Amino acid sequence: MSATMQPNKIVVLSGSGLSAESGLPTFRDSNGLWNQYQWHEVASPEGWRARPEAVLAFYNERRLKAWHAQPNAAHAAIAALEAAFEVVVITQNVDALHERAGSSRVIHLHGELAYARSTGTPPLRYRIDDAPIALGQLAEDGSQLRPDIVWFGEQTQYMDEARAHVATAAKVLVVGTSLSVHPAASLVWSARGRAEKVLVSLEMDEIPDGFEFRRGKATEHLPALVRAWLAAPTSP
Ligand code: NAD
Ligand code: APR
Repeated sequence: MSATMQPNKIVVLSGSGLSAESGLPTFRDSNGLWNQYQWHEVASPEGWRARPEAVLAFYNERRLKAWHAQPNAAHAAIAALEAAFEVVVITQNVDALHERAGSSRVIHLHGELAYARSTGTPPLRYRIDDAPIALGQLAEDGSQLRPDIVWFGEQTQYMDEARAHVATAAKVLVVGTSLSVHPAASLVWSARGRAEKVLVSLEMDEIPDGFEFRRGKATEHLPALVRAWLAAPTSP
């Protein structure tokens, strides 16, 4: 049964470009993390097995930086939508800037820096905020503690729930992502034909079908877009 579109529902799909203006690096821009680090060394199970100390250092540094970063005007604009809409934020980001800006429904597809988890079964999850994870640090079950991040090659979380939200949204806003990582990028394919679809990014190799592309910074475009959406009554 096809899920009906909910006229008052907005889904936001965000990526690292949204947090760029909060001082957190993206991945594939010229100064992106994958130009400074080898992603398979610091963000993959193979890298974890080979040199766990390099993986822990990579995430300990990012966790501290993310902890001290502040949400920007684009995060705030997304949170402001909740005054008049049912908003679900689906993010590839591992920082907590959406939550700290006031968004109340945030799905993290690639995990969260503020959490660690055990490598035993079942995985135990711990909130660690900005605390580093030490090499050899063990969880209660005696297994090694690791960042609660989805690495390359690992299963992305919450995809079924995320697809269902996109498929029932009247408006879909994609912001700050190159849409180069699957399955997260495939979420744009679940957007309804009749839904209003907007993509905000500095640059994009390919614009998904039906999306209006607004080139530029998230903080330049989102406040005006949100003001317009809040001013216009949702179609019944
Ligand atoms: P994939 O295996 O289809 O990606 C193709 C290959 O390209 C993979 O080996 C991937 O690691 C590699 N790749 C991705 N970005 C790269 C880059 N910047 N430079 C060089 N190689 C790069 O799919 P995937 O991307 O590996 O994702 C598989 C699973 O890993 C999915 O569940 C995904 O959500 C998860 N994941 C992927 C990424 C990512 O950036 N690819 C990040 C976190 C989690
Ligand atoms: N405003 C809007 N867009 C921006 C800004 C900005 N200020 N700065 C950069 N961008 C855009 C870039 O043009 C690019 O399209 O954000 C996008 C960032 O793309 P990536 O660096 O590929 O980051 P992202 O799409 O989040 O990567 C997805 O890859 O390695 C994995 O797990 C990692 O979740 C991440 C995933």
